[in-house]
Amino acid sequence: MLDIRIEKTTNPKPIPGEDNPLVFGTIFTDHMFVMDYVKGQGWIDPRVVPYQPISLEPSCMVFHYGQEMFEGLKAYKAADGRTLLFRPDKNIERANRTNRRICIPEIPAEDFLQALKTVVKVDEAWIPHKEGTSLYIRPFIIATDPFLGVRPSDTYKFMIILSPVGAYYPEGLNPVKIWIEDEYVRAVRGGIGEAKTGGNYVASLKAQVKAHDDGYSQVLWLDGVHRKYIEEVGAMNIMFKINGTVVTPALNGSILPGVTRDSVLCLCREWGIPVEERQISVDEVVEAARTGAMEEAFGTGTAAVISPVGALRYENDVMEIGGGKIGELSHRIYETITGIQLGRIQGPKGWSVEVK
Ligand SMILES: Cc1ncc(COP(=O)(O)O)c(C=O)c1O
Repeated sequence: MLDIRIEKTTNPKPIPGEDNPLVFGTIFTDHMFVMDYVKGQGWIDPRVVPYQPISLEPSCMVFHYGQEMFEGLKAYKAADGRTLLFRPDKNIERANRTNRRICIPEIPAEDFLQALKTVVKVDEAWIPHKEGTSLYIRPFIIATDPFLGVRPSDTYKFMIILSPVGAYYPEGLNPVKIWIEDEYVRAVRGGIGEAKTGGNYVASLKAQVKAHDDGYSQVLWLDGVHRKYIEEVGAMNIMFKINGTVVTPALNGSILPGVTRDSVLCLCREWGIPVEERQISVDEVVEAARTGAMEEAFGTGTAAVISPVGALRYENDVMEIGGGKIGELSHRIYETITGIQLGRIQGPKGWSVEVK
């Protein structure tokens, strides 16, 4: 159990009104959680303090070698007033998997959860109420040794910041156009693809800019060795419903093990829908889209829950999927997961964690 010191702001910011569109990642709440790591002492001085700039030396290792990790999850306001986290244990487990991969000391799961609950509780009034809105939670750790040279840092800073976010789909679930990238790659097996760390995202920028310039909203990555097998979308895992079966790439070491991915697979299995986690070639996807065997395609991730795919571009071909409309299964999954997140539907044991 952490002994968390709480220092409240004396200068609170106005909380955005319910009509504010809350553009993702632009507004931050009044407080943040901070905890430091010092080799030989462990994680020390857990505290909630006013949201403020931090001061770091220019030589700080994170700036030069990218030793940093982050997570993303949300807190929701249920109709009965409860504040709910969705499967925070999965994010904590993934955070520590990332930590192990990039040589950051782990944070005990119960301390991590206590930190999340404490800071969310302090800024509970910032959780928006309108349908589809939530409080995005961004835990992250940076290497803070003032040192040039490649080795794991001996000191770190763990922080949690909070940002109220608007409905991802203010006009309903609109299918997105996806660009299958055949030039750049994001990750390779044995690398850091399955870790949630900044390096994977900087590796994705070039292709993302190219896809955006061509009118596509997201990049679908192929494997880094053969450029043949489907991996994942920019910040989402990908699923296809082909001839009644939900098919998604197996967790092979180079894709992020999404919490939403796991939740969708659990629900489909519970509903008796056949599910396959396996290697899927881009040729299989193209063929299924051409013949009409591809009934639905959708991305899964915390930001959007489900993002239906309306069109896929590969080489010089553009394939339309599901008539450009959201599929029945995508819709059912979206309604169920958002229902569980908002406490309207009873989900599997442990999926909803109340912040008291
Ligand atoms: C690269 C990548 N893949 C997949 C996901 C989806 O993961 P989750 O469902 O845990 O949000 C994310 C978002 O966190 C991501 O950044």
